[in-house]
Amino acid sequence: MERKVTVPDLQRMKEAGTKITALTAYDFPFAQIVDQAGADVILVGDTLGMVVQGLDTTLPVTLDEIIYHCRMVARGRKRALLVGDMPFLSYQVSREDALRNAGRLIKEGACEAVKLEGGIPMADTIRALTSVDIPVMAHIGLTPQSVHRMGGHKVQGRKRGRGPGQRERVLADAMAVEEAGAFAVVLEGIPLDLAEEITLRLTIPTIGIGAGVHCDGQVLVYHDLLGLYDGHKAKFVRQYADIGAQMKSAIEKYLSEVRDGSFPNDGESFHMGTAEDVKRLYGDAVVVPMPKVN
Ligand code: KIV
Repeated sequence: MERKVTVPDLQRMKEAGTKITALTAYDFPFAQIVDQAGADVILVGDTLGMVVQGLDTTLPVTLDEIIYHCRMVARGRKRALLVGDMPFLSYQVSREDALRNAGRLIKEGACEAVKLEGGIPMADTIRALTSVDIPVMAHIGLTPQSVHRMGGHKVQGRKRGRGPGQRERVLADAMAVEEAGAFAVVLEGIPLDLAEEITLRLTIPTIGIGAGVHCDGQVLVYHDLLGLYDGHKAKFVRQYADIGAQMKSAIEKYLSEVRDGSFPNDGESFHMGTAEDVKRLYGDAVVVPMPKVN
């Protein structure tokens, strides 16, 4: 295994011009695959609400659910930095809540950092978390927990001047989260020239999703990249494989072979045999002496 990725490594990568690779994962086998493939960061995102739980938004996801998934991912990951997402209302109500809940992600979820959505309004919360050494990855631009304010999952920062998704606001959010102590910031769903400007102006790394090529790194949702999610496919997603279709055809083959009697075959079945055969097949472990019954 290559050396474990740490929070300061991401800063060094930005300074060295090495792109940061990040991907979501939600359970043990997926975490093993992502980790062994060499991702720098694994994010247990609240997207699990959509790609794992089949919800329409991330809003109903709970902290306990994120922790449950983080624990599975932590067991499968050896090298990547593990970041746990703070779900809606786990950090917005009060600073005490945010501290307690981020602390749970570290203590119970085995995360090394937390991610939360929001810019200027979240700066004090980021300050509170980083002041007790909980590393924070910020997330600005298209923030899915603000789906109702935005009127859908809409690209932000396109307009100048007044308006809810304006460019100046996204820029100011970026400066605010860096100033508050975030160690990295996810830029989601913003024009690539705005992402480039933010990436040049910030000293912390930017990780883009739907924010163009100029970010210091990229993140995608595992299910989108592999074709495991049937829902809406965003413009920025590049699907590298169609694993969902492969899985479906393998399952169809299994079902049809069960139905036509060609599964299981003789070699996939156990046979009565000599004591020697039994020992060869099962080893000594199956020679269980029966208890005497008086
Ligand atoms: O929840 C998530 O998976 C995310 C990424 C898409 C950045 O926030």
